[in-house]
Amino acid sequence: MNKGVYLITGGAGFIGSNFVRMLFRDFTDVEVRVLDKLTYAGNLTNLEDFREERGFEFIEGDICDENIVKKAMRDVDVVVNFAAEVAVDRSIDDPQSFLKTDIFGVHVLLNEVKKRGMVKKFIQVSTDEVYGQILEGSFTEKSELKPRNPYSASKLGGDRLAYSFFATYNLPVVITRASNTYGPMAYPEKVIPLFITNLIDGQKAPVYGEGKQARDWLHVEDHCRAIALLVEKGVDGDVYNIGGVEECANIELTRAILRLMGKDESFIEFVQDRPGHDFRYSLDCSKLRRLGWKPEYTLEKGLKITADWYKNNEAWWRPVKEKMDKRYTVGFWGAKK
Ligand SMILES: NC(=O)c1ccc[n+]([C@@H]2O[C@H](COP(=O)([O-])OP(=O)(O)OC[C@H]3O[C@@H](n4cnc5c(N)ncnc54)[C@H](O)[C@@H]3O)[C@@H](O)[C@H]2O)c1
Repeated sequence: MNKGVYLITGGAGFIGSNFVRMLFRDFTDVEVRVLDKLTYAGNLTNLEDFREERGFEFIEGDICDENIVKKAMRDVDVVVNFAAEVAVDRSIDDPQSFLKTDIFGVHVLLNEVKKRGMVKKFIQVSTDEVYGQILEGSFTEKSELKPRNPYSASKLGGDRLAYSFFATYNLPVVITRASNTYGPMAYPEKVIPLFITNLIDGQKAPVYGEGKQARDWLHVEDHCRAIALLVEKGVDGDVYNIGGVEECANIELTRAILRLMGKDESFIEFVQDRPGHDFRYSLDCSKLRRLGWKPEYTLEKGLKITADWYKNNEAWWRPVKEKMDKRYTVGFWGAKK
């Protein structure tokens, strides 16, 4: 939707702020309101470029707070809900905040959409982790849902709750299930920025287990373009997978990052695996491709751009990393023993 008022919840985080950037860059006549609680992962610096932009508004607040949500949703045409607790390791250690934001918070947003009756599209940003792991083949939108950790179980709660508001109240809900996303402004606890920033500092890249887990990496620009397309063309009540182009075992990903950073394999440190670590994710995205989407970033191109971004933006990541709770970086489970 090229015109209208967008409410972007979680817009100070990684994917949300990249989505805000895309809206101002590619669309001519949009107003953007960001509602974000500014948890450890929310960063106002991500929105600095838009603070003076006409039609931009930032509201600090929690999607679980009905009064704030009511205020944030006034005049809104489109809601994209990125707000979530997202880190699997944190959810294993302390699931409660995940239940609140990722299920109850989604309910508060949906309830306000229902009361207002004017919102044209509600995108619930879910995750491929709701399917659980798959050893062979790829998940379609019809695959069984078998989340295996508290993060993905909570996200599934929000995902199905959103669907229920379509089925019961006819709300214009579309649900996305995307694969592991990477790119500029990802919190440095995530594997790709963690490895890049560690290597910049001459530290090692901690790899879980033997590094055999496989992921299907999606560049954040490709993720955001898919969501924008679904605002236009997504069928109400439907789910859409959004996946990358290249499946890659963690050890291969690590080697690719080492090459980009000019380091050898002595910079790999194998650490104790995460409990219940999903072995492989893979998505069949033909439903989304039929709407005209295809990823534009190969992993090689996307990783190079991402590594360059972190090399050139130390002022962004260094203070964030200094404040980061190191218990939740890769290596956490080994350290706990
Ligand atoms: N990063 C990935 O690989 C990936 C893949 C698939 C789906 N997703 C989904 O995309 C969304 C965004 O992920 P991300 O990687 O950008 O996460 P992020 O942690 O970088 O950003 C989340 C944002 O939500 C905000 N937030 C958290 N709780 C809130 C609350 N109760 N009220 C308001 N704001 C709150 C945080 O402050 C932060 O700015 C999430 O819903 C996540 O489940 C992420």
